[in-house]
Amino acid sequence: MKATATANANIALVKYWGKRSSDPILPQNGSISMTCEGMATKTTVEFSEQYAEHTVTINDEEFKKDEKDIHGHIDRVCKLAGIKQHARVVSESNFPVAAGLASSASGFSALTMAACQAAGLKLSPRELSILTRQGSGSACRSVFGGFVEWHRGQRDDGSDSYAEEIVGKEYWPEFRMIATIVESKKKPVSSRGGMAQTVATCPYYKDWLATVDGDLKVMKEAIEERDFEKVGSVAEFNALKMHATMITTKPSIIYWIPATMEIIHAVRQMREEGIQAYFTMDAGPNVKVLCQEQDVKEISMRLAELEGVTNTILCKPGDGAKIVTEHLF
Ligand code: PMV
Repeated sequence: MKATATANANIALVKYWGKRSSDPILPQNGSISMTCEGMATKTTVEFSEQYAEHTVTINDEEFKKDEKDIHGHIDRVCKLAGIKQHARVVSESNFPVAAGLASSASGFSALTMAACQAAGLKLSPRELSILTRQGSGSACRSVFGGFVEWHRGQRDDGSDSYAEEIVGKEYWPEFRMIATIVESKKKPVSSRGGMAQTVATCPYYKDWLATVDGDLKVMKEAIEERDFEKVGSVAEFNALKMHATMITTKPSIIYWIPATMEIIHAVRQMREEGIQAYFTMDAGPNVKVLCQEQDVKEISMRLAELEGVTNTILCKPGDGAKIVTEHLF
């Protein structure tokens, strides 16, 4: 009753921002992401009579129960599998957690896959995506590789709200994303809290929602056509629209710090000079720069020179979550 899985983080090109239900987690809008080789989590789960309760260790630190209900998510798997044992979970990520870098996506995806395998649950990829979504919404996209769409769905039970591959990682091997780290401290407002506050208080939230279906349609076409400019421009504008809803909530949520703005302006400057680069941002100050393989060297060099940039992580389209044989304990 022990298994290990790895999952890559994913970064949304059309963002999920707002829940229509928090139990089960269901989104107000659909979203599209790229699964990122370069930012991964590995998780080992063991169920055993010898454990009196679930314990979770993330990057060598014991994880206490908080709003990210990891313990509750393990219970969900136990209930489905009909097992009574408790779990020991050990997880390691190769990038900063909780800094707007989608660590909950790779984390919940690896956890769900490893826990299901350890519990002897046989789920289809779609069922796995639905179960993963109940731990953390965006995580349902990391079940799949390449470019992925998470369907909003209509039903209250969430049976039609799952992720699905648009194209695999080999479809667009030149696509790159440079995650630019400006601060790896834990963020002040979680995405969970931030989106709830936005839905409740942002006067423009309905306007955001009204534009998302159009973005999803154009983004899907752009990915299928491998049209980099189209992907980049829709992604950048979509992220700015999402941040506009965050900024106009009460109290206002501003994830940006001066270094965030430095990068935004540097990307726009590069475009002026004919270098194809676009930015996107999530619930944190870090900026992800979208580009193509041929421009990585020049763009990385320029980003590294900016004030406040501490590190960059280069990502390309990666695999979906998978079971591996080497355990963490
Ligand atoms: O699923 P969560 O709670 O990690 O929320 C993710 C929200 C964004 O990263 C801002 C957007 C997205 O679609 O990933």
